[in-house]
Amino acid sequence: MNIEKEYFGQTRDGESVHRYLVEGSRGASVALIDFGAIVQSVRMPDRDGRVDEISLGFDSLRGYLDEHPYFGATVGRYANRIANGRFELGGQTFTLASNNGPNHLHGGVRGFDKALWSGSPVQTETECGVRFKLTSPDGEEGYPGELQVSVLYMLDVENRLTISYEANTSRPTPVNLTNHTYWNLSGAGSGEILGHQLSIVADRYLPVDESLIPTGELAFVEGGAMDFRNPLEIGSRFDSVEGGYDHCFVLGDSASETPRPAAILRDPASGRLMRVSTTEPGIQLYTGNFLDGTKGAGGKIFGRLGALCLEAQHFPDSPNQESFPSTVLSPGDTYRQVTIHEFSAA
Ligand code: BGC
Repeated sequence: MNIEKEYFGQTRDGESVHRYLVEGSRGASVALIDFGAIVQSVRMPDRDGRVDEISLGFDSLRGYLDEHPYFGATVGRYANRIANGRFELGGQTFTLASNNGPNHLHGGVRGFDKALWSGSPVQTETECGVRFKLTSPDGEEGYPGELQVSVLYMLDVENRLTISYEANTSRPTPVNLTNHTYWNLSGAGSGEILGHQLSIVADRYLPVDESLIPTGELAFVEGGAMDFRNPLEIGSRFDSVEGGYDHCFVLGDSASETPRPAAILRDPASGRLMRVSTTEPGIQLYTGNFLDGTKGAGGKIFGRLGALCLEAQHFPDSPNQESFPSTVLSPGDTYRQVTIHEFSAA
């Protein structure tokens, strides 16, 4: 295992950004940048050992400084939507930016994906990676409390990428972190992901209203387009899902201490397979419905349905939905999440 650190560019405030390249087995590698604690590249071998880029990203910092759909990003303080950019906590109403129609999305105007984190390499005998740290000030983007956050990415000799998060706060605040990598196991920019096969360990999902806020119901997936309990080709029932998949699936009634199996994504063409397990109670399946032809790494064009995200997280809009597992972190407690991506090919 090996890690290399290199200069990746400068923020608009003149701060240096670095890229960390972590090399795994059989030619695999993962690259991370300290701007946004972003996964900039994931390269994995296919069944014939051919290594290809399987995540969407940019070659240079510029793409990440401008607006982009959260390619590879660490999303926070609250991933996904909070209805009308408002919630109540401890008898007080907090107002956040409405940056997605009427709703607050992915932490606001300047979320954790736009912050410069401080990175330090971590290496053991079997794993290698980077720990990123960030202090989110009290009141940032409207959220209460100073939040100390860390995200640790570790790639091991089996090409398992483990993402471990921790956070502490000075005042009660909602916290919901996720990683927003877009996957195309056939290769980034190679076309639509409708031929990928997906299974999700969920017998329920969260139906949403027209602005993608959960209605509060936990609906059974039973036989419909949301039923991924057995591997299903994503395209097979796609036409019956208005706008495409952008739904949270229920993995459990609460967060778990240790990661549990959540999803398996397989690309029959390349043989690549990604197994996801997580401590989170939910996983958002987003099929890149709003991708609009962004020009990304290698000059590739990322069009609609050109990749998909599997975002381990708490349920959207939890701060306003009493029946959902709580996302409130209190002073003295520690937020923890572990999500594992295990790659193979056959
Ligand atoms: C959301 C989508 C959104 C995308 C990019 C996903 O997590 O579910 O609705 O368009 O992020 O912002």
